Amino acid sequence: RLKHAINNNGHLEIGGMDTVELAQKYGTPLMVYDEQAIRERCRTFVDAFKEKKVKAQVAYASKAFNCVAICQLMEQEGLSLDVVSGGELYTALQAQFPSEKIHFHGNNKTKDELLLGLDAKIGCFVVDNFYELELLHKLASERNQQVNILLRISPGVEAHTHEYISTGQEDSKFGFDLASGQVKQALAKATQLPFYNVLGLHAHIGSQIFETEGFALAIEKMAKFLDESESELNWELSVLNVGGGFGIRYNEEDKPLAIHQYVYAICDKVQQLWSERNKPMPEVWIEPGRSIVGDTATTLYTVGSKKTVPGIREYLSIDGGMSDNLRVALYQAKYEAALANKMNEANDFTYTVAGKLCETGDVLIHDAQLPEAVEDDVLAVFCTGAYGYSMANNYNRMKRPAVLFVKDGHAQTVIKRETYEDIIKNDVAIFSKVISD
Ligand code: LLP
Repeated sequence: RLKHAINNNGHLEIGGMDTVELAQKYGTPLMVYDEQAIRERCRTFVDAFKEKKVKAQVAYASKAFNCVAICQLMEQEGLSLDVVSGGELYTALQAQFPSEKIHFHGNNKTKDELLLGLDAKIGCFVVDNFYELELLHKLASERNQQVNILLRISPGVEAHTHEYISTGQEDSKFGFDLASGQVKQALAKATQLPFYNVLGLHAHIGSQIFETEGFALAIEKMAKFLDESESELNWELSVLNVGGGFGIRYNEEDKPLAIHQYVYAICDKVQQLWSERNKPMPEVWIEPGRSIVGDTATTLYTVGSKKTVPGIREYLSIDGGMSDNLRVALYQAKYEAALANKMNEANDFTYTVAGKLCETGDVLIHDAQLPEAVEDDVLAVFCTGAYGYSMANNYNRMKRPAVLFVKDGHAQTVIKRETYEDIIKNDVAIFSKVISD
C-alpha cells in the first residue's frame, strides 16, 4: 500500500485537508488533486533534463487531465502543453497558456482544428499523415504563415507495461511508417514545402511503461533513419520528441522506475548516439501525462447499499463508477482504496466495490480489503488523476464529479460538479408539452 497521511480523527488527509470534511462540504463523487504533488512531478521532469544538461521541452500530455486550472499550473511550472483536439486547444487558450509552447497532436485533426491552431500561432503541429501534410500546408500558405512541424513516425517499437515489442511494421493508425519508407517520403515532401519549418521527428511507443529499453530502441531506429536520409535530404533534425508513457504505481503489481531514471536513460541514449553520429545534440522533447497527474488525485465516494451473495462475495456500492472512472471496465485497471473515515481500522473485510451504473461490468475494485463498511462511509480510491475525469461521461445521465485542488490546508474547486440543468442543456423539446421550470 502507498503511505497516506492520517490525521488525529483517523481520517485520510490530502494537502492538509480532511477528506471526510471535503466529502461533506463538496459532495461525492469528488476528485481531489494534491496540487503540490503535481508541481513536484513537473519539477522532477524539468530538473532531470537540467541535471543531464540536455536542452528539452517537457510537454504535459493534457489528455490525461485537462481543464483551465491545470493549464495555468503547467504554465507556472514552465512546461509545454500537448493537445490532441480543438477542445483541449481551446481550453489551453482560454487559460492563456502561451501558444508558442503548445504542440498539437492527432491523426485526424479537422480543418477547423488546424485553423484554430494556425490562428493561435501555436508552437508546433505534429503532422501525422500525408493528408494532413498537404492540408496544413495549404491552409498555412493561404495565410502566408510559417509553421513549425514535427513528423510523427510509427517506429515499429511498441511498449507494453512489462515488455516492448519490436516489429518490422507496426500496425498503427498513428504516424508515418518507418519500415515501409513513408517517413522518408514525408520528410522529402515536407522539407520542400515553403511554409513548413520541419523541426524533427516524434515517436510515442505506448503508455504505462516500466522499463527504458523501448525508448532506447525507438531512438536507435530514428538515429539510423537519420544517418540514411539527412544528408540526402539536405536537412538536419533539431528536435527529437520521444513521446510519453512513463509508468506509475496503481497497485503492488506495478513496478515503475523513478521519473529521473526514464529521463536519464533517454538523455544517455541520445547523447551516445549523437556523439557517435558526430552531430550537435538535438533538443529532446517528451510528453508525460499519466506520470505527472496519475498518482496525484484521489476520488472520494459515499458508500450506499451492500449486497451479500452467500458464499461468493459481498458487494459494496458507491455513488459513482464507470461514469467517473472508465479505466476498470475498459482496461481491467486495478486500484487501491481505503475508507477515508476509518484509516486506523484493520482491513478485515473483502468487498467487491461496485459502481451505480446500469452495467454488470461497472465494478471499480474486485477485491478491496477494507474495514467493515457501512452506509455513508467515505471510500477513497487512489491514483485516479490520469484518464479519470478526462474519460468521465454522462452514461445513465450521471453528473460528472467536481474536481478540487488542495494545498496547504486550502481547497479550490477547479471543475464544478455538473448539475441536472447541465444534463439537459443541449436537449431540445420538440413536442407541445413544454418542460416547466
Ligand atoms: N503522447 C502521445 C502521442 C500519446 O498518445 C500519449 C497517450 C501521451 C503522449 C501521454 O501518455 P502517458 O504519459 O499519459 O502515458 N486512456 C488510457 C491511456 C491512453 C494514452 C493515450 N496516449 C489509460 O487510461 O490508460
